[in-house]
Amino acid sequence: MKGVIIDAIKDLVIENFGMDKWKDILENAGLDRTTTFSLREDVPDETILAVVESISKTLNLSPEEVADAFGEYWVTVYMPKVYKPYYRGITSAKELLSKMDEIHRKATQNIPNAHPPRFEYRWEGPNTLIMKYKSPRGLVGIFTGLVKGVGKFFRTPLKVEQISENEVRIVFPE
Ligand code: HEM
Repeated sequence: MKGVIIDAIKDLVIENFGMDKWKDILENAGLDRTTTFSLREDVPDETILAVVESISKTLNLSPEEVADAFGEYWVTVYMPKVYKPYYRGITSAKELLSKMDEIHRKATQNIPNAHPPRFEYRWEGPNTLIMKYKSPRGLVGIFTGLVKGVGKFFRTPLKVEQISENEVRIVFPE
Protein backbone atom coordinates (compact mmCIF):
# COMPACT_ATOMS: atom_id res chain seq x y z
CA MET A 1 0.00 0.00 0.00
CA LYS A 2 1.10 3.55 -0.53
CA GLY A 3 3.32 5.17 2.12
CA VAL A 4 0.65 7.82 2.64
CA ILE A 5 -1.32 5.38 4.83
CA ILE A 6 1.57 4.65 7.15
CA ASP A 7 2.50 8.34 7.23
CA ALA A 8 -0.98 9.09 8.60
CA ILE A 9 -0.62 6.28 11.16
CA LYS A 10 2.75 7.69 12.24
CA ASP A 11 1.40 11.23 12.67
CA LEU A 12 -1.51 9.90 14.72
CA VAL A 13 0.75 7.93 17.06
CA ILE A 14 3.30 10.71 17.49
CA GLU A 15 0.64 13.38 18.16
CA ASN A 16 -1.13 11.27 20.75
CA PHE A 17 1.60 9.13 22.33
CA GLY A 18 4.96 10.70 21.39
CA MET A 19 7.97 9.79 19.29
CA ASP A 20 9.36 7.17 21.71
CA LYS A 21 6.18 5.11 21.50
CA TRP A 22 6.30 5.29 17.68
CA LYS A 23 9.86 3.94 17.77
CA ASP A 24 8.77 1.15 20.15
CA ILE A 25 5.97 0.31 17.73
CA LEU A 26 8.40 0.09 14.80
CA GLU A 27 10.72 -2.12 16.83
CA ASN A 28 7.90 -4.42 17.99
CA ALA A 29 6.84 -4.74 14.33
CA GLY A 30 10.33 -6.05 13.50
CA LEU A 31 11.52 -2.78 11.90
CA ASP A 32 14.41 -0.50 12.63
CA ARG A 33 13.56 2.26 15.15
CA THR A 34 14.67 4.88 12.60
CA THR A 35 12.55 3.59 9.67
CA THR A 36 10.86 6.34 7.64
CA PHE A 37 8.33 6.07 4.81
CA SER A 38 7.77 8.47 1.93
CA LEU A 39 4.23 9.24 0.79
CA ARG A 40 4.42 7.63 -2.64
CA GLU A 41 6.59 4.64 -1.91
CA ASP A 42 5.13 1.15 -2.06
CA VAL A 43 5.10 -0.23 1.43
CA PRO A 44 4.40 -3.98 1.54
CA ASP A 45 0.93 -4.69 2.93
CA GLU A 46 2.52 -7.07 5.47
CA THR A 47 4.60 -4.20 6.88
CA ILE A 48 1.52 -2.03 7.34
CA LEU A 49 -0.38 -4.87 8.98
CA ALA A 50 2.61 -5.61 11.25
CA VAL A 51 2.68 -1.94 12.33
CA VAL A 52 -1.09 -1.90 12.98
CA GLU A 53 -0.79 -5.08 15.08
CA SER A 54 2.19 -3.66 16.91
CA ILE A 55 0.20 -0.50 17.78
CA SER A 56 -2.50 -2.66 19.28
CA LYS A 57 0.03 -4.62 21.38
CA THR A 58 2.36 -1.74 22.31
CA LEU A 59 -0.44 0.65 23.31
CA ASN A 60 -2.72 -2.06 24.65
CA LEU A 61 -5.64 -1.15 22.39
CA SER A 62 -8.11 -3.56 20.78
CA PRO A 63 -8.02 -3.90 16.97
CA GLU A 64 -11.37 -2.04 16.90
CA GLU A 65 -9.97 0.84 18.96
CA VAL A 66 -7.00 1.10 16.58
CA ALA A 67 -9.33 1.04 13.52
CA ASP A 68 -11.62 3.71 15.01
CA ALA A 69 -8.69 5.95 15.98
CA PHE A 70 -7.16 5.59 12.51
CA GLY A 71 -10.52 6.21 10.78
CA GLU A 72 -11.15 9.34 12.79
CA TYR A 73 -7.63 10.65 12.24
CA TRP A 74 -7.52 9.91 8.50
CA VAL A 75 -10.84 11.61 7.80
CA THR A 76 -10.81 14.51 10.27
CA VAL A 77 -7.11 15.47 10.30
CA TYR A 78 -5.18 13.89 7.44
CA MET A 79 -7.77 14.16 4.65
CA PRO A 80 -8.26 17.95 5.19
CA LYS A 81 -4.47 18.40 5.21
CA VAL A 82 -3.58 16.31 2.16
CA TYR A 83 -6.68 15.64 0.07
CA LYS A 84 -8.86 18.76 0.22
CA PRO A 85 -9.44 19.00 -3.56
CA TYR A 86 -11.06 15.56 -3.58
CA TYR A 87 -13.99 16.56 -1.42
CA ARG A 88 -14.39 20.21 -2.33
CA GLY A 89 -18.12 21.06 -2.50
CA ILE A 90 -19.18 17.93 -0.60
CA THR A 91 -21.31 18.92 2.38
CA SER A 92 -22.62 15.74 3.97
CA ALA A 93 -21.53 12.30 5.16
CA LYS A 94 -24.02 10.72 2.77
CA GLU A 95 -22.55 12.53 -0.20
CA LEU A 96 -18.92 11.84 0.72
CA LEU A 97 -19.52 8.13 1.31
CA SER A 98 -21.45 7.90 -1.98
CA LYS A 99 -18.42 9.31 -3.79
CA MET A 100 -15.81 7.09 -2.13
CA ASP A 101 -15.46 4.72 -5.07
CA GLU A 102 -14.91 7.60 -7.47
CA ILE A 103 -12.56 9.44 -5.07
CA HIS A 104 -10.32 6.39 -4.70
CA ARG A 105 -10.17 5.91 -8.45
CA LYS A 106 -9.29 9.56 -9.01
CA ALA A 107 -6.78 9.80 -6.15
CA THR A 108 -4.81 6.80 -7.41
CA GLN A 109 -5.20 6.93 -11.20
CA ASN A 110 -1.81 8.54 -11.79
CA ILE A 111 0.04 6.55 -9.17
CA PRO A 112 1.75 3.44 -10.50
CA ASN A 113 1.08 0.27 -8.50
CA ALA A 114 -1.81 1.69 -6.54
CA HIS A 115 -4.56 -0.82 -5.82
CA PRO A 116 -7.30 1.21 -4.23
CA PRO A 117 -10.29 -0.47 -2.62
CA ARG A 118 -13.56 -0.40 -4.60
CA PHE A 119 -16.99 0.20 -3.12
CA GLU A 120 -20.49 -0.88 -4.16
CA TYR A 121 -23.66 0.76 -2.95
CA ARG A 122 -27.12 -0.57 -2.24
CA TRP A 123 -29.77 1.70 -0.73
CA GLU A 124 -32.31 -0.04 1.52
CA GLY A 125 -34.22 3.22 1.97
CA PRO A 126 -33.49 6.96 1.71
CA ASN A 127 -31.35 6.88 4.86
CA THR A 128 -30.00 3.33 4.92
CA LEU A 129 -27.01 2.41 2.84
CA ILE A 130 -25.33 -0.95 2.47
CA MET A 131 -21.76 -0.27 1.44
CA LYS A 132 -19.72 -3.19 0.16
CA TYR A 133 -15.95 -2.98 0.53
CA LYS A 134 -14.02 -4.78 -2.20
CA SER A 135 -10.34 -5.34 -1.68
CA PRO A 136 -8.12 -8.40 -1.46
CA ARG A 137 -6.61 -6.79 1.66
CA GLY A 138 -9.68 -7.58 3.76
CA LEU A 139 -9.34 -4.56 6.03
CA VAL A 140 -13.02 -4.41 6.86
CA GLY A 141 -12.31 -3.25 10.43
CA ILE A 142 -10.32 -0.28 9.13
CA PHE A 143 -13.05 0.39 6.57
CA THR A 144 -15.66 0.50 9.35
CA GLY A 145 -13.45 2.89 11.37
CA LEU A 146 -13.18 5.17 8.32
CA VAL A 147 -16.95 5.24 7.82
CA LYS A 148 -17.33 6.30 11.48
CA GLY A 149 -14.65 8.96 10.84
CA VAL A 150 -16.79 10.43 8.04
CA GLY A 151 -19.66 10.75 10.54
CA LYS A 152 -17.36 12.58 12.98
CA PHE A 153 -16.06 14.90 10.25
CA PHE A 154 -19.59 16.09 9.37
CA ARG A 155 -20.78 15.89 13.00
CA THR A 156 -23.45 13.46 11.83
CA PRO A 157 -24.47 10.69 14.22
CA LEU A 158 -24.24 7.65 11.94
CA LYS A 159 -25.11 4.12 12.95
CA VAL A 160 -22.50 1.82 11.45
CA GLU A 161 -22.81 -1.94 11.70
CA GLN A 162 -20.78 -4.65 10.00
CA ILE A 163 -23.28 -7.11 8.51
CA SER A 164 -21.02 -9.52 6.61
CA GLU A 165 -17.34 -10.09 5.98
CA ASN A 166 -17.24 -7.15 3.54
CA GLU A 167 -20.41 -5.12 4.06
CA VAL A 168 -21.55 -2.46 6.50
CA ARG A 169 -25.01 -1.00 7.04
CA ILE A 170 -24.96 2.75 7.55
CA VAL A 171 -28.04 4.51 8.90
CA PHE A 172 -28.04 8.28 8.42
CA PRO A 173 -30.16 10.52 10.66
CA GLU A 174 -33.51 11.75 9.22
C1 HEM B 1 -10.62 12.15 0.44
C2 HEM B 1 -10.71 10.99 1.05
C3 HEM B 1 -9.87 9.77 0.76
C4 HEM B 1 -8.82 9.60 -0.11
C5 HEM B 1 -8.19 10.61 -1.06
C6 HEM B 1 -8.37 8.23 0.04
C7 HEM B 1 -7.28 7.67 -0.63
C8 HEM B 1 -6.74 6.44 -0.38
C9 HEM B 1 -5.47 5.95 -0.85
C10 HEM B 1 -4.48 6.72 -1.74
C11 HEM B 1 -5.31 4.69 -0.39
C12 HEM B 1 -4.12 3.73 -0.66
C13 HEM B 1 -4.43 2.90 -1.89
C14 HEM B 1 -3.24 2.06 -2.35
O1 HEM B 1 -2.17 2.08 -1.75
O2 HEM B 1 -3.37 1.34 -3.37
C15 HEM B 1 -6.50 4.38 0.42
C16 HEM B 1 -6.73 3.19 1.08
C17 HEM B 1 -7.92 2.88 1.72
N1 HEM B 1 -9.05 3.67 1.79
FE1 HEM B 1 -9.13 5.61 1.32
N2 HEM B 1 -9.16 7.58 0.94
C18 HEM B 1 -10.09 8.50 1.42
C19 HEM B 1 -11.09 8.24 2.34
C20 HEM B 1 -11.52 6.98 2.67
C21 HEM B 1 -12.76 6.67 3.36
C22 HEM B 1 -13.75 7.72 3.90
C23 HEM B 1 -12.86 5.31 3.39
C24 HEM B 1 -13.96 4.44 3.94
C25 HEM B 1 -15.21 4.79 3.95
C26 HEM B 1 -11.66 4.76 2.79
C27 HEM B 1 -11.32 3.43 2.71
C28 HEM B 1 -10.04 2.97 2.45
C29 HEM B 1 -9.53 1.65 2.84
C30 HEM B 1 -10.30 0.56 3.59
C31 HEM B 1 -8.20 1.61 2.37
C32 HEM B 1 -7.18 0.46 2.57
C33 HEM B 1 -6.84 -0.22 1.30
C34 HEM B 1 -7.60 -1.50 1.06
O3 HEM B 1 -8.34 -1.94 1.96
O4 HEM B 1 -7.46 -2.09 -0.03
N3 HEM B 1 -10.89 5.81 2.35
N4 HEM B 1 -7.34 5.46 0.38
